[in-house]
Amino acid sequence: MTKPFYDTLKLGILGGGQLGRMLLQKAADFNISNAVLDPDADCPCAALTDEFVKGDFNNFDDVYAFGKKVDLLTIEIEHVNIEALEKLESEGLKIFPQPRIIKLVQDKGAQKIFYRTNGIPTSEFHLIENKSELSGHQSFLPFVQKLRKGGYDGRGVQVMKTAEDFEKGFDAPSVIEKFIPFEKEIAVIVSRNEKGEVKSFPVVEMEFNPEANLVEFLFSPAVISSTLEKEAKEIAEKIADDAKITGLLAVEMFVTGEEKILVNEMAPRPHNSGHHTIEANATSQYEQHLRAILNLPPGSTESILPAVMVNLLGEKGYSGHAMYEGMEKILAIEGVHVHLYGKKITRPFRKMGHVTCTGKTVEDALEKAKFVKENLKIIS
Ligand SMILES: Nc1ncnc2c1ncn2[C@@H]1O[C@H](COP(=O)(O)OP(=O)(O)OP(=O)(O)O)[C@@H](O)[C@H]1O
Ligand SMILES: [Mg+2]
Repeated sequence: MTKPFYDTLKLGILGGGQLGRMLLQKAADFNISNAVLDPDADCPCAALTDEFVKGDFNNFDDVYAFGKKVDLLTIEIEHVNIEALEKLESEGLKIFPQPRIIKLVQDKGAQKIFYRTNGIPTSEFHLIENKSELSGHQSFLPFVQKLRKGGYDGRGVQVMKTAEDFEKGFDAPSVIEKFIPFEKEIAVIVSRNEKGEVKSFPVVEMEFNPEANLVEFLFSPAVISSTLEKEAKEIAEKIADDAKITGLLAVEMFVTGEEKILVNEMAPRPHNSGHHTIEANATSQYEQHLRAILNLPPGSTESILPAVMVNLLGEKGYSGHAMYEGMEKILAIEGVHVHLYGKKITRPFRKMGHVTCTGKTVEDALEKAKFVKENLKIIS
């Protein structure tokens, strides 16, 4: 007999954003009592968690004190204070993903070295300390400069086409990597529990909005050959095994014109590229993360229905209290599933929610997603 989790386990989550919110929704199904640390008392998790703790997940004292209150600690954002996590871990707290993996992922330079050391295919790269070093790499053009630390949603990424672009380069420790004229961007979410059981979700395909630098549409499953599908999953599973992660790992990849897969980057947590799994797969990424960190067997990742996910971004030109226009219209369509994140204030391109559209085929789902994009507006 096992005691229900709420008697025995308090799960702490660093970060109170939408990924945490959807994790909490699933945690409720497992009777898991929980606490969330975030600086914003109005964050997406605040109203759902058993115990909201206001504090900075980048501050040593805040993270350490929070860790002392819980039995198991996880993250929904990787920009967290590592020193506090290392101390908590040395004192016996279970932290999944492990602090050494969070530390690795926080640094895009360390990630690239990890791929190289473990024979994971990735674009060629060099590490530089500052902007002035860019000029020493003219023969490497065209390349992409990425800040080693602190970047997200494309902030901290710049394409360098010619030497004239060096002027606008970042003046901080960076990775410079070969520009890849990719055909597709794909992602694989994989989970690994403490026993070492590894399971990946079907490959998905992402289409980015060039202006917002955010995913515009996500297709599940990806329209790729079975050979590529197999290869992408094997790469993601190998990374999970090599890193010996406990928890969920999302691996973003490029598919080149020569049908070669190159790993772009990874995130050790639920990911934007897995939202659709709530409706479209036998087990959601959120449940899979909980199963992995609780050392339970992984659930089936089988795709039940083709799906297209569309991020709901704040409309350009509107800032302030969020209003939703067109909700009735989109909800009249079968297979349209709305997820709002509880953010009171909208800003241009702010991620306010997402909609997963399921259909008989990916094309059918895409048609619905396009309708959602055109008809649902977040204004103020
Ligand atoms: N080497 C490359 N060649 C071509 N395009 C690239 C390269 N690296 C990144 N990009 C493009 O820039 C986007 C953002 O890069 P990356 O994923 O490294 O940044 P990020 O800020 O961590 O993004 P996010 O938080 O959205 O995942 C990629 O999704 C891809 O479209
Ligand atoms: Mg990325």
